[in-house]
Amino acid sequence: LTHFKAENEPMFEYLKDSPERKRVQASLARLQSQMTEVPIVVGDQEKRTRDFRFQVKPFEHRNKLAKFYHASADIIQDAIAVSIEAQKEWEVTPLEERAKIFLRAADLVSNKYRADLLAATMLGQGKTVWQAEIDAAAELADFLRMNVQFALEMTRYQPISTTSAKNSMVYRGLEGFVAAVPPFNFTAIGGNLSAAPALMGNVVLWKPSDTAVLSNYIVFKIFQEAGLPPGVINFLPADGPTFGSAVTRSPHLGGINFTGSVSTFQWLWKKVADNLNTYKNFPRIVGEAGGKNFHLIHSSADIPHAVNNTIRSAFEYSGQKCSACSRAYVPDDIWPEFRKQLLEQHSKIKLGSPVEFDTFMSAVIDERSFERVKSYIEHAHNSKELKVIAGGKTDKSKGYFIEPTIVDVTTHAKDKIMKEEIFGPVLSIYVYPANDMEGVVKLVQTTTPFSLTGAIFAKDESVLEMWRRKLRFAAGNLYINDKSTGAVVGQQPFGGARHSGTNDKAGGPHYLLRWTSEQSVKRGL
Ligand code: SER
Repeated sequence: LTHFKAENEPMFEYLKDSPERKRVQASLARLQSQMTEVPIVVGDQEKRTRDFRFQVKPFEHRNKLAKFYHASADIIQDAIAVSIEAQKEWEVTPLEERAKIFLRAADLVSNKYRADLLAATMLGQGKTVWQAEIDAAAELADFLRMNVQFALEMTRYQPISTTSAKNSMVYRGLEGFVAAVPPFNFTAIGGNLSAAPALMGNVVLWKPSDTAVLSNYIVFKIFQEAGLPPGVINFLPADGPTFGSAVTRSPHLGGINFTGSVSTFQWLWKKVADNLNTYKNFPRIVGEAGGKNFHLIHSSADIPHAVNNTIRSAFEYSGQKCSACSRAYVPDDIWPEFRKQLLEQHSKIKLGSPVEFDTFMSAVIDERSFERVKSYIEHAHNSKELKVIAGGKTDKSKGYFIEPTIVDVTTHAKDKIMKEEIFGPVLSIYVYPANDMEGVVKLVQTTTPFSLTGAIFAKDESVLEMWRRKLRFAAGNLYINDKSTGAVVGQQPFGGARHSGTNDKAGGPHYLLRWTSEQSVKRGL
């Protein structure tokens, strides 16, 4: 493994009649013909509680996809004890051995379970086949492989030795367990939040999102099949506050690896603060917590390119990527043409079932999401200052469907619709005076507390250079003449600062350092 070099997973297009499309169709048919049962897994034990629930399809919410159980506080306590026991051996297992397990897992993702992962992500999380491919196949396999490469590179560093001192560095996992709390929107994030710490020698309690439980369980089973010893990663669907309280009360909490909402992330920090005297170690807290991502367009921009990228960023996966564009700034001199092309492209968007392979976007994840997004659309309909220029209808009779919606906010640049994370298919556009370059940059900078992703579009290089300089704190991931979504592992390490998180870049080399506790050793004689 010494010179292992990871490569990005090649992707399929799932064209009509292709063998890969047939494989996905077979998996879709199988998962739809049965209701999969998802247990809690602690060590080598499957557990079931009386507190059971169902994962439904967001686009046909009367259809149950999986039955799963919520772990009680007692089971979570038990899992902590089991993981701490498993840590004894895992932590001293050589990195190369641990790495081989996750490389095997990556191959299982690429081949044997690719179609199942896609089908579970399409049915359970409402992703189209392409959105599922870039997530549950490519991004997941990439995380597993690239992390191995980064870990090997990182641990190659050894300190300088002299004639009187032989110095070395030992790379260990954190003392304690890591609580991994991923969101519903990327199957790959569930895999990465648990696998990255485990690769570095940590033990993990993985609480999947209720609305992504089936795809996450398939990932967990892949880790088992790849040879991960029992207890290293424990699979614990649970009520959020129950899980959060149980893990933050434990003296063994080593770290939290979180992706989700700002409010939950802040709640976890507060719980940690409340329990500071309990812990053996200061827990490592790593988190990505949402965004209000911008597209900033210049008069010199290639209009069709900027329009196309804005549509894709705002509406692919119904705007439910943390990185989705939800506010755009367009100069008034190109606005008439931009608007015309935007509405043309908008009218071609196919909203429907993800199981049909030509669907562009499907339902939002659940009723709570539906109601939240709808409330922003209603706010836009009711406000005198905002104008809904496309979409705006919602229908939850069969699935949680929300039309891709575009709102013109020109008379109110700082409306809440431009400030708050909506996490749905709503794009707000502010038309700025083309000659007020200072003003628009200030708006981009100061309208929201977030700093996750942003994109700038211009042909004029001096403008790009100036924006790049001025916006360096406004986006953890900045895109130049490209959409704000779609970070590729190993190519655009991903994460944001300010209220968007701790800016630890997932899919980058330094992420692994967060899951490592180093011991510096000097030998004299
Ligand atoms: N990493 C994803 C993207 O870049 C978002 O979570 O789109």
